[in-house]
Amino acid sequence: LNPISTKADVVHHLLADRPRTPARATGHAFAPANIALCKYWGKRNATLNLPTNSSLSLSLGNLGAHTEVQGNDIGHDRIWLNDAPLAADTPFAQRLTAYLDLIRPPDTGFDVRTVSTIPIAAGLASSASGYAALVLALNQLFDWQLPPRHLSILARLGSGSASRSIYRGFAEWHAGTAADGMDSYAEALDIDWPDLRFGLLELSTAEKPVSSRAGMQHTLETSTLYQSWPTQTRADLANLHAALNQRDFEQLGQTAETNALAMHATMHAARPALCYWLPESLATMHKIWNLRAKGLPLYFTMDAGPNIKLLFLKESTPAIQTHFPTTRIIKP
Ligand code: DP6
Repeated sequence: LNPISTKADVVHHLLADRPRTPARATGHAFAPANIALCKYWGKRNATLNLPTNSSLSLSLGNLGAHTEVQGNDIGHDRIWLNDAPLAADTPFAQRLTAYLDLIRPPDTGFDVRTVSTIPIAAGLASSASGYAALVLALNQLFDWQLPPRHLSILARLGSGSASRSIYRGFAEWHAGTAADGMDSYAEALDIDWPDLRFGLLELSTAEKPVSSRAGMQHTLETSTLYQSWPTQTRADLANLHAALNQRDFEQLGQTAETNALAMHATMHAARPALCYWLPESLATMHKIWNLRAKGLPLYFTMDAGPNIKLLFLKESTPAIQTHFPTTRIIKP
């Protein structure tokens, strides 16, 4: 048996006994965006998007991607993003077409229409909900009836964080150890915590100069602090599980905040240094720390960008609205 080493091998393996032609005219699905409380940062295999560490996230309620997909007979893909056609030579379209190449039956093009309900300017990774929604829509179009972990693996091939967007609520992506990544998928966590809130703060709407993909690779290759990251995430994951089981908000918030800052520390120690922070990011961190010192249970997390995501409980909503009047509050 040949080893599974490319994306095409993985798809072939997962879809071996599944229908190869569309079972209906259109597949349609929604997938939520997600925010990691323990971050995915660095790959042990960049071809298959296999991570060096496990990660844990919470989805963003109704913010995400609605995707509709159908086969066409014009022989090439057509892509619409928020109702606007996307030129085939854009990096976004090329990445999507390369992904669809893994799946397409001979001579088939796809029409893919994605409407994102994420405020584009909020600096939230749209690739996660985008690839998850696409996989769910394809699963419906072809009537594959794949189990969630296989859907998660297919989404991971598009973008690592998409493996977690297959689910609503809390999800944990197991890093796995297998070379073929068959044990590297996300699972939903059976935790209900209706009082948790995210606050999205838009500090900059500029497109980020370095993608997560390039940033994590550069960090892994050049940062002397990266070696501490797997140990950090193992401890953080254990703390997050304890916090979730006990509904201990302080422990959840403190762990998520520490994890995000530790991830950024690995980037700051890269050569050349990678710093996504803007002066406004740092000012906001100090504002949060000051409010917390005065007794407000407020924490934050950040991804590969300058924007800040507040983490608080429903009861703090009036205080958050007073101190951060422009924040968009999301019930996960
Ligand atoms: C900082 O999933 O965008 O948001 O697998 O290369 O597509 P690729 O990377 P991507 O990275 C997300 C990184 C992060 C942390 C996280 O979401 O866990």
